[in-house]
Amino acid sequence: MTFSNWYNRSLNKIWGFVEDRTSMRKWALRPQPEFSFKPSYWTGAFVVNAFLFQVVSGALLLFYYQPSTAPTLTACGQPVGTFSVAPAAWCSTYYIIHSIPMGSLLLSSHLYGAYAMIFLMFLHFFRGYYLGVYKAPREFSWMVGTLLMVMTLGMGFTGYLLPYTQLSYNATNVGIVLALRLPTVGPLLGPFILADGTSQGLLSRMFDAHVLLIPLALGGLLYAHIALFESHGIAPPASSDPTQRRRFTEREDKKSVPFMPHIFFYITKWGLLYVGVLLGIAALWPWSLPTYVGNLAAAGVVTEPDWYFLWLFKLVDFQGVTPVIAVGLSNVLLVYVLLLPFLDRSKRTHPRDRPLFIWLATSLLAFFVMMTVWGGETPGVQITPPSVAITLGPIFVVNGLVVALFHWRYRRSYERRLAARMFPYAGPFPAAHSPAAGATPAPEVASRE
Ligand code: HEM
Repeated sequence: MTFSNWYNRSLNKIWGFVEDRTSMRKWALRPQPEFSFKPSYWTGAFVVNAFLFQVVSGALLLFYYQPSTAPTLTACGQPVGTFSVAPAAWCSTYYIIHSIPMGSLLLSSHLYGAYAMIFLMFLHFFRGYYLGVYKAPREFSWMVGTLLMVMTLGMGFTGYLLPYTQLSYNATNVGIVLALRLPTVGPLLGPFILADGTSQGLLSRMFDAHVLLIPLALGGLLYAHIALFESHGIAPPASSDPTQRRRFTEREDKKSVPFMPHIFFYITKWGLLYVGVLLGIAALWPWSLPTYVGNLAAAGVVTEPDWYFLWLFKLVDFQGVTPVIAVGLSNVLLVYVLLLPFLDRSKRTHPRDRPLFIWLATSLLAFFVMMTVWGGETPGVQITPPSVAITLGPIFVVNGLVVALFHWRYRRSYERRLAARMFPYAGPFPAAHSPAAGATPAPEVASRE
């Protein structure tokens, strides 16, 4: 018996034992079609995995972190006098890094894990956008996903202040000024975010939001997101066929691969790889803590947010763009994403059939990447309107040309293939049988056009 036979038989035996005692298949998620054994179908599960890592590492950090701005009396675990005026929040972070066994690994992996979760979430979002997974019947999955995106970015925003460094303090203040400029919502948010107007009030609110309120909202939305996924099943591959069925029947489910243990193990395998790579990166390049709020040596610190908000910070550097305009624009984008399933009404999901929406997605993606790099290179440097036009204008024009070219090219070849399928025995495009000449198309193909 080969090793792999022996391995599979042993696994089957163990699984049979567990299944016999738990009937897990009955209460696990529904079976999934064979084609879903590709990482691209499980990008959302990878985000869940990243979220779980954040929950566990965050809970461990809570044992030591102190959400207080009071000057510390413990000198952050260093000889007395070293950091006598450093706030307790910063000191407890310093203590985690320098005095707790594996503390640096824990904190660095929590921070890089947040970046990874946000990156994977964008990957999940853009994959869904390009492949049109938001189309019927998955409109609500998409909308709940958009709220999840807001919550995830909110986790990043509120967590940034917690180490209480001068850098994070400055950037959080800019972010709060932007949020408070929101029409109607801003003044309502004000008392909630600022509490009693002291630094301690702000830190306490950010802490509460980061460890309790947003995780609760995220957990609730995630439950709804997965419940909707369970109800529709996984989205089939993108297609140009407007009659494509986008839900699986119970009969098809019976032929699919059971979630337990196959799909679960498949996702877990990727999840373990994620944890290994994350810990490896955190061990090799540990995060170094910038200086604390109130340190006089920090007077010249640049105000810079984490990478995922750099684009918004750069936008405010554009001459003539006030915080109200910047916040207004980000809200227009948010509403666009939220309502996308109702704006893109065609029934075809393949990118070649949705040139306008693909142009928008690619332009926005390029815009964000460009703005992020720009924001990182020149934080706080004012940009004149001609520079903005010269730098950003080509993104939209070049993308428009590329998408138009692809659309034209693939539409033609696709139509040729369709015609060949309609008249398989008639040779290539006989004039008498071509659809243009009035021949009756086969019903399956007719429904596509
Ligand atoms: C914290 C963020 C998010 C988490 C944890 C999450 C999780 C998941 C999971 C576990 C699935 C099941 C299929 C898969 O693994 O890909 C899924 C599917 C889906 N998600 Fe998300 N998601 C998040 C954000 C988003 C965002 C931002 C959007 C879009 C705006 C979105 C839209 C969708 C849609 C439409 C599906 C169904 C796709 C399909 O059936 O293939 N999700 N999500």
